[in-house]
Amino acid sequence: MNQKAKIVGLGAYLPERVLSNLDLEKMVETSDEWITSRTGMKERRLAAENQFTSDLGFEAAKKAIEDSGLKAEEIDLILVATITPDHVFPSTACLIQNRLGAVNAAAMDLQAACSGYIYALSMAKAYVESGMHKHVLIVAAEKLSSIVDYEDRNTCVLFGDGASACVVSGAKEGYTIENVSLGCDGGQSDLLILPAGGSKSPASLETVKAREHFIKMEGKEVFKHAVRRMEGAVKDCLDASGLSESDISWMVPHQANIRIIEALARRFEVPKEHVYLTIHKYGNTSASSVGIALDELLREKEVKRGERIVLFGFGAGLTWGAATLTCEVDRG
Ligand SMILES: CC(C)(COP(=O)(O)OP(=O)(O)OC[C@H]1O[C@@H](n2cnc3c(N)ncnc32)[C@H](O)[C@@H]1OP(=O)(O)O)[C@@H](O)C(=O)NCCC(=O)NCCS
Repeated sequence: MNQKAKIVGLGAYLPERVLSNLDLEKMVETSDEWITSRTGMKERRLAAENQFTSDLGFEAAKKAIEDSGLKAEEIDLILVATITPDHVFPSTACLIQNRLGAVNAAAMDLQAACSGYIYALSMAKAYVESGMHKHVLIVAAEKLSSIVDYEDRNTCVLFGDGASACVVSGAKEGYTIENVSLGCDGGQSDLLILPAGGSKSPASLETVKAREHFIKMEGKEVFKHAVRRMEGAVKDCLDASGLSESDISWMVPHQANIRIIEALARRFEVPKEHVYLTIHKYGNTSASSVGIALDELLREKEVKRGERIVLFGFGAGLTWGAATLTCEVDRG
């Protein structure tokens, strides 16, 4: 087998505009107290009107490539995880490939909602370890503000815009992707859905009037599935990696709800200081959230050689996944 795939460069990008809980109080019937206590969120970022998913993704991708020390022309595959592509087609991956000048890369989008970053990691690992591709660029980018209904207090307080990226290669140093466990329950697809705009319900005056081009979510139900499924994914992934719970040095969760994250941290007995949180400042940025948190963790905390990081996510589909990484680099 080829060398195990490693993350060799990371980047993230958050747009400047801040939407605070106090701003939301002026838009819908809600309160800072409700949002903070039920979700852990204080602020989220919003892209500018003329800034789209490919723009956010491009900024994160540039940083990840620079961090990897590679040139854009050396990237041979680009995977973009998003539920808010610039267009239905061409893919956002093609747009980013062009902006980067990654002329030797094939490019495609993948859609696994908030689990997108982890799904993409599993694909990149498979491509690199099989020898089919050498340097895979993953970009997870979302302009969720384009599909959030700012008249629906059940959902509008939860989401923000952002992007993350990483380069996966068969190098000697980096963050080894030990294992990835993925899952899906398509039987629960109605719990979290964008009802219109696809082939089943193309855009029409009626769909627009019924506000069907915005996210609809059964929050309470999604919450229950999220805790159970992510717990299972982490366990499966640890088992597949030959690791036990006590081997977890750092947790990087999908940033959907502080209560979900705390329940899982308690379950795996990971101390608070070792669970990386961005939820208070960025909210839920769907596919990009795990990558943004991972990028920040590695920049802000001292992750030592040999330490294990567990990533996990959950989203519409329903989809879920977990990945174990081993730090095999000394960051100076
Ligand atoms: C969405 C979520 C925060 C709601 O929290 P909750 O504790 O389940 O709250 P409920 O949905 O039961 O709503 C409780 C009440 O608060 C109200 N409420 C909902 N949003 C509110 C808001 N922004 N401000 C004030 N009140 C609100 C509801 O209308 C409801 O009122 P009612 O009891 O009079 O009907 C939570 O369910 C959640 O995080 N779900 C999972 C999301 C997730 O994991 N997504 C992952 C994939 S992206």
